This record gives sequence, structure tokens and C-alpha cells, in this order.
Amino acid sequence: MPTELEREVARRRTFAIISHPDAGKTTLTEKLLLYGGAIHLAGSVKARRARRHATSDWMELEKERGISVTSSVLQFEYQGHAVNLLDTPGHQDFSEDTYRTLSAADSAVMLIDAAKGVEAQTKKLFQVCRLRAIPIFTFVNKLDRYGRAPLELMDELEQVLGIRAYPMNWPIGMGPEFRGVYDRTSRAVHVFSAEGSHGESAASERVVPLDSVEAAEALTAAELAQLREDIDLLDIGGDAFAREKSDRGQITPMFFGSAMTNFGVRPFLDAFLDLAPPPAPRSTSHGYQEPTAPKFSGFVFKIQANMDPAHRDRVAFVRVVSGQYRKGMDAFHVRLQKTVRLANPTQFMAAERTAIQEAWPGDVIGLFDPGLYRIGDTLLEGDTFEFEGVPRFSPEHFAVVRARDPMRRKQMEKGLEQLSEEGTIQIFQQLQMGMRDPIVGVVGPLQLEVLQYRIEHEYGADILLDKLPYGHARWVVGNFDPKSFDWGGNRQTVQDRDGQPLVLFRDDWSLQHTVEKHPELKFLSAAPPLPAALGGGADQRSSR
Ligand code: G4P
Repeated sequence: MPTELEREVARRRTFAIISHPDAGKTTLTEKLLLYGGAIHLAGSVKARRARRHATSDWMELEKERGISVTSSVLQFEYQGHAVNLLDTPGHQDFSEDTYRTLSAADSAVMLIDAAKGVEAQTKKLFQVCRLRAIPIFTFVNKLDRYGRAPLELMDELEQVLGIRAYPMNWPIGMGPEFRGVYDRTSRAVHVFSAEGSHGESAASERVVPLDSVEAAEALTAAELAQLREDIDLLDIGGDAFAREKSDRGQITPMFFGSAMTNFGVRPFLDAFLDLAPPPAPRSTSHGYQEPTAPKFSGFVFKIQANMDPAHRDRVAFVRVVSGQYRKGMDAFHVRLQKTVRLANPTQFMAAERTAIQEAWPGDVIGLFDPGLYRIGDTLLEGDTFEFEGVPRFSPEHFAVVRARDPMRRKQMEKGLEQLSEEGTIQIFQQLQMGMRDPIVGVVGPLQLEVLQYRIEHEYGADILLDKLPYGHARWVVGNFDPKSFDWGGNRQTVQDRDGQPLVLFRDDWSLQHTVEKHPELKFLSAAPPLPAALGGGADQRSSR
């Protein structure tokens, strides 16, 4: 008999959808929730968006810019599975956040617009999934419109992304003639009915064997002939489906449908939940941690301040890796080397934040964070170790920050401190005499705008940003004299909030030149571990 923990692990699926903006991620999310019974009317995600906009200035920025800035976690039940969908922001300046979210996912769904194929953002996110070797499922969307031929799209995945696609199903027609999909495993035809094609309710579909009278009645002779020809081509020309390759992310199972009309959403969801892996073991400083290990463990992959301006709260998102989380439990905070109570946990059920009693591996809990957590922190019961692999990124845009009104400097500093703990910005101190204003470093320039907006709306300080000409930051390890590195406007030495020195470089040339000239020093693109006495943790570090 499997234990309760083993059963809960086996039925969990934690994934994220990756796509280029406008491919239909919001629409598909909404439809998955519809099928999961988490919402009753399609449109609720948008309604939720609107509600949130109405209550939060921060969301106002999202609306103004037409981008989704924050990400959340949605949980729903579907046919015995507990599904966790990690929502990732689509805008490229927020890719850092997306990368971290992917570190908490066990698989990804790559959503592609049938007319546009593989787009820039799809490509970037795909590479991250590939690095993590997680299974990637492809959903080709918008088949209710004329798009590229399915074979051409398969070819594009292989040419552009270097991954072979294995079509699990095949579309019958396209545009207004999109009639259904053929399931290659069961050799059955799913014929969609035009009712419900506005997408407010689950699409009605009939499932009939390919070689049946019903199929011959439901489809025209021409449609059937075309389908048979396509199937022959796939069966003869393609490889057989290899589950182990899909598990390792070496091939991508491919599905076709239309999130808007719901056509193909259920066949996709059924097959996806069957093929997607349950929570995977995670690498730690002491080998792999299995999800079925009885003691609780988890890591912080995201921190978000002021989710609800009425409460001024900050939430640390923790991915549960092993064992069971129980409400109000204590856990050991490895970086701080102390026991903490996991306070005010929330789980994100569909649109609402609800208090939770328990959580299992694969789940995400939101902890009230009074300033205790940083991205990458490990929380656990029992033996101590640290999780690895929440990626960190080197900032590429820098600006000196000043309060427009010097009387508001305190508020500005508090905002900078808190937002840097969220991980969206990094704050550096200038080392030259008399240079008191902090420097902020971000991965994408839009984050500077977001910073300005949030400091003003959440902390009440109007700030001025003087952009700096630097494009790279490297933490320096070794014995060096910071002053000798402030060099003709091409380089500047600063220190991070832990007092570790780093150099900002104007361009590739000044970086390379410096690295070559100083073989005695190490230049790292992420902060090196702190000595344990200073509360050092073991994040994944990379050096370039
Ligand atoms: P995103 O989150 O990936 O950015 O995409 P989103 O779901 O917001 O969809 C982007 C646009 O594509 C929306 O149109 C949406 O209705 C449309 N769309 C999504 N899935 C499908 C589909 O399967 N077929 C078709 N034909 N369109 C689809 P919009 O005009 O920008 O917004 P709206 O007026 O429809 O809300």
C-alpha cells in the first residue's frame, strides 16, 4: 500500500506555460481552469484581472502597459490529479522572474501560435527548459484560424529549437474548417461540435474510431482522405513515441487546438496530465532530495512585496520538495541557521488566496515574509542541506537613484531595500568619496520604470534615475584594490548589500580586457557564497 505521501506525490503535476506574448497563454490558462472546474465561466481570469486592477495601483501599471508583470500560482483538481499551474509573466524584461518560476516547475507547456510559429520569447524560454532537462509539451494554438501547415510547424521546432516534435494528435482541417483532432494513440477521431464554439463552456466532442461509420458520417470524404494521407505520412516517416525521451525533454509531444473555441483543450489536458511527470527529486548540496522523503523541505523561488496594498504584505513563494507541510509548522532556515515558524501560509486556489492546512511536494505555498527570506533559501525539517539551482542573473542596466525630495530619502531607501529582497532589482553602494547615492542594477530596462512606479506608489517617494553607461557587472574574488578599477568611465567598483565588491563594465571590450589583464582575480556573474558567519547560502553560481 502506498503511503499518503506517495499517493499525493504521484497525483501531482506542477508546470508552467511558456510562450511569446499574444500566443494565447491567458486564454489557455482560463480554459484549463474551466476544465478543472475551478471556474465556471470562461472569462473569469480576465474578470479577475479586472478586479485586481480595480484594487491595486501596481496592477494599474500592468493595465497601462498591457503586460502581465506579476506571476501567480493556480491550483486545481482534474480527474484525480492535483494540478499546479505556475503563471509566468510574458514580457521579456521579466524573464528573470520567469526563469526562477521555471526552477519550481516539473514540466512546461510551450504554447505556439499556429500562424506565427516559434517566436523570440518562445526561443529564450525553451532554452531554459532545455537546460533543466524538464519535459516540454507543445500546444499549437489558434487552429480556428488559418495558420501554417502542421508539418511545417514540426519542421520549424526541429530547425529553430533543435527538438523533434512527436504529434500526439493531428488536426482535421484548419480555420473555419477545423473539425477535430485525430488521436494517434487510440486511433480515434475527436469531432468537435460547433456549439460552445464561443468558448464559454467545455467544447462538446464526439469520440469515434477512425474506421467507423460514425467517422464517415461526421467528416466529409475529402476530410477523411486527407486525414488518412497525413496519418500514413506520420506513421511511415516519423519515429515511434518514446516516453523516456519525452521525460528527458529530448522530444516534445505535440498537440493541436484552439484555446478560444476550446477545441482540442480536453484531449490535450488528458494526455498531458498522463504524460507529465510527478514532482521530481531536486539537487541539493548533499545529493538528491526525493519527494517521498518523509521530512518537509522546500525552497524560496520568488518573493513579492505588496501583493495586496491594503495589507502591505510581502509573500515568499516556496516550492515544497519533500514531505508534508502542515499549517503552523516550524522549519529550519538554513541560511540564517535558525528555526522559523512558517507563518500565514496561503495557497493559490484558482483566483483566490486561501489559507491552507497542508501542502505536498509539487505544491507552492506563499509565506508571510517579515524580511526573513531571500530567493534560493532552503527551509526544512531534519538534516540540513541546501537546494541548488534557482538561477541568478547578472544585471545589465544601471542607474544612480536619488529621491527628488531629500526629505523622502528614508522612504526611498526602505523601498529599494524591500524590492531588492524580492530579487527584481539589485542595489549597490558606490565606493568613491562623497558618492552616497545608491546604484540600482536590473536585467531589463523596463524594470527601472517599474521600480520608479512602485517606489512612488508603494513607498511614497518620487525618485530620479540617472542611467549609467555600464552593461555588465562582475563580482570580484581575490585580492584587488577597488580604486585601481575606477577607470576612465569604462569601469566602476561598487559593493553589494553584503559588502562584496563588484566591478561594472561599460562594454564587452572593457570586461574582456580586464579579465585578461588580471588572471589572479576571478570575475563572477553572480555573487559568490558568503562566509557562513555572514549568513552565506549556496546558490547556484555561474561565472562567465
Ligand atoms: P497571452 O496571454 O499569451 O498574451 O495571450 P491572450 O490569451 O491574451 O491572447 C491574445 C489574443 O489571442 C487575444 O485576442 C485572444 O482572444 C486571442 N486568442 C487566444 N487563443 C486563441 C485561439 O485559440 N484562437 C483565436 N482565434 N484567438 C485566440 P485579443 O484580440 O488581443 O483579445 P480579446 O479581445 O479576444 O480579449
